[in-house]
Amino acid sequence: MLYHQNFSIKAYNSFGINVQAKYFATFKNVIELQELLQNSTEKLLVLGGGSNILFTKNYDGLVLKNQMQGIKILKEDSVNVWVKAGAGVGWHEFVLFCIDNNFAGVENLSLIPGTVGASPIQNIGAYGVELKDVFYELEAYHLKEKKIVLFNHADCAFGYRESVFKQKLKNQFVILNVSFKLNKLPTFTTNYGAILTEIEKLGIKELSIKAISDAIISIRQAKLPNPNDIGNAGSFFKNPVISTLLFETIKVNYPQVISYKINDEKVKLAAGWLIEQCGWKGYRQGDAGCHKKQALVLVNYGNATGNEIAQLSHQIINSVLHKFNVQLETEVNIF
Ligand code: EPU
Repeated sequence: MLYHQNFSIKAYNSFGINVQAKYFATFKNVIELQELLQNSTEKLLVLGGGSNILFTKNYDGLVLKNQMQGIKILKEDSVNVWVKAGAGVGWHEFVLFCIDNNFAGVENLSLIPGTVGASPIQNIGAYGVELKDVFYELEAYHLKEKKIVLFNHADCAFGYRESVFKQKLKNQFVILNVSFKLNKLPTFTTNYGAILTEIEKLGIKELSIKAISDAIISIRQAKLPNPNDIGNAGSFFKNPVISTLLFETIKVNYPQVISYKINDEKVKLAAGWLIEQCGWKGYRQGDAGCHKKQALVLVNYGNATGNEIAQLSHQIINSVLHKFNVQLETEVNIF
């Protein structure tokens, strides 16, 4: 259990923003967590991988880094296997465990930065799969009532990059572990265009969960900056959902707009495309920028401050609003 005062958390956020936490501590189990909470009256921020957060100032409270480890098979039948992982386990480490054991379900979520504990908070998703598709249940520590609470699927109220932990129950729980229901008999999700093309490109002859994972790793590496090289937090904005009416008016001037129909009333647009049309792709001011291969990702080339990144995000929001009458929302949590 580490404990520091006035501690730089640059290494603990994937944007690589150099801010300080008044206090910083790590915990490996519930006992350590309880001990830390008992000895502190500070306001609290629990970090997983720090890969979906932008710090714009020092954190005037206690930052806790969840380091609860362990991956365990809970039970299995002829079709499914239930696996429980500690909240501090790296997400991709968990994906690799599943692939090594031939447990299908999370291969499309390969290489997403962050931890198992953070995955349900924003219902991580990529390439046709979301966390909610494999989620079984989770245990979380109720900060006020000082007890462990079990959440089933319905309790989590998952939506697109949303859950109850970003809404009604925000900042009230510390996620301790997450259990997943995976498949022993895989059904592959390859409806996301580029996956099969990439598998072919890699010269892979037989479809398998490892092949899908390899293809997705290759697609991600080609498009998304590695936070170890260039600071970033993945998609900075959500893909906006707009009315069919607005969509029709946009299409008049921009017939090539990239969209996904949700139902008769709603359409989701590719925010990366909207941002690119506004001329931001590859833009850089100082060390803050809009990634040159994927406009939805804002980047820190080295020493950008959180405010510089946030300011850039406001400029982008304003220009998309001005050009398309579409309001972008941030996916990243800004502190
Ligand atoms: N596009 C552009 N210009 C750009 C970026 C994208 O025209 O600069 C176009 C692409 O050509 C494509 C469409 O927009 O036709 C969608 O792009 P992409 O496949 O890269 O996916 P995305 O919608 O931009 C979402 C997720 C990603 C996830 C990918 C793949 C959100 C906010 N983002 O991005 O998730 O990896 O789909 O499934 O939903 C994340 O959440 O951090 C994240 C990286």
